[in-house]
Amino acid sequence: MPLHRGAHPQRDEHSEERRRLALNPFFGEADPTAAMNTAPPRHRLPDGPMPPLTAYRLVHDELMLDGNSRLNLATFVTTWMEPQAGVLMGECQDKNMIDKDEYPRTAELERRCVAMLADLWNAPDPSTAVGCSTTGSSEACMLAGLALKRRWARRNADRYPATARPNLVMGVNVQVCWEKFCNFWEVEARQVPMDGERFHLDPQAAAELCDENTIGVVGILGSTFDGSYEPIADLCAALDALQERTGLDIPVHVDGASGAMVAPFLDPDLVWDFRLPRVSSINTSGHKYGLVYPGVGWALWRTADELPEELVFRVNYLGGDMPTFALNFSRPGAQVVAQYYTFLRLGHDGYRAVQQASRDVACGLAREVEELGDFRLLTRGDELPVFAFTTNPDVHAYDVFDVSRRLREHGWLVPAYTFPANRQDLSVLRVVCRNGFSSDLAALLIEDLKLLLPELRAQKHPLSHDRGVATAFHH
Ligand SMILES: Cc1ncc(COP(=O)(O)O)c(C=O)c1O
Repeated sequence: MPLHRGAHPQRDEHSEERRRLALNPFFGEADPTAAMNTAPPRHRLPDGPMPPLTAYRLVHDELMLDGNSRLNLATFVTTWMEPQAGVLMGECQDKNMIDKDEYPRTAELERRCVAMLADLWNAPDPSTAVGCSTTGSSEACMLAGLALKRRWARRNADRYPATARPNLVMGVNVQVCWEKFCNFWEVEARQVPMDGERFHLDPQAAAELCDENTIGVVGILGSTFDGSYEPIADLCAALDALQERTGLDIPVHVDGASGAMVAPFLDPDLVWDFRLPRVSSINTSGHKYGLVYPGVGWALWRTADELPEELVFRVNYLGGDMPTFALNFSRPGAQVVAQYYTFLRLGHDGYRAVQQASRDVACGLAREVEELGDFRLLTRGDELPVFAFTTNPDVHAYDVFDVSRRLREHGWLVPAYTFPANRQDLSVLRVVCRNGFSSDLAALLIEDLKLLLPELRAQKHPLSHDRGVATAFHH
């Protein structure tokens, strides 16, 4: 969340006259002349109440200026669900996920979701895998990171905290949540840089960064920057070799924010999950390719041994207690219920059909972008249904930031951003194809891009200079 400041007296409040005109006389419900005649203040609590319909209209009207979420090709997060899911979510808004005793059926649906995911991700014994729902992958990654850190601290009780400082190894392409984890929990982030046309972690380079203070290595399925899968099996093999050489036994956490709900359905032969003995924990965002509205995520550990008992808190549950692991306490039950609904509704075959459709749209759109002639694809949408592209070297009149800005004029949000070390020279556009982004919509995007190209090509030089703010990218 942005860290908001309080009110700015000069900038935030307009004149009395303007505040009066900000109100539609119709907002007075039955009698327009009996309406309030001044809009309520916006930066302090109004003195008195107003009718619910009036309040609704004021809020609703302001929100009309938000973008259309379905045209937001920057986000991985679900922007469309079936009406039945919406009804169920409405029915569960009032249920607090933490009150396991009060809402035992909601707790049971959460438990079933964990069991289904343990099975989907090939836990050696799904009945001994442990897991929990979270608000999203960020919280799930914090929990997984905490478990890694605590396990390392236990093993190094003679050195930590006295002398040793823990570190976590990852690619420079990790999502910002891992930088947060390292910052908040005082762990050194050791990042493998990009190199040439390699835009994610290199297993060998990751293994070389490990030492006796490494709490784990994070592998990403797939990378937020370009949608590519990191080579998790090769990473595990490199760490096996490291163990043989040095005795260091480093666990792997797979950040499957998106891919853990894509690969099991579309790439069943890809071995990335608990089939690899070194994979200790996995997270995913239920609200990304899990196909649920925000915010729900999941964190699972191969066995209860990988999750130190002292991190687990207990809440009342049917006369006994239930173990919980979470950063926050209260949280709505609606998203967990919607996740269970979606699992039930789609089943394995349904998920495969939905994800395949997204991949087909992504691959088709990527091909069409390439055929325009001005662009070079970095990825093709055949791993995550996501692709990144940049301008060809002979394009000098405009850059990716110009393309992003001009597409916004047509309602499309396609982020442009610069890659991290060592490819800061490379700026790209990224398109995330999700359920609900149909081939019809993709065709409209291509049409708009075709319309814009002659104008972009006619520019004397790229017009977007403020690259620091050009990116809308931390999804
Ligand atoms: C690889 C990866 N990890 C973590 C996250 C954070 O996920 P969430 O938004 O569910 O907190 C994202 C979001 O895009 C991601 O792509």
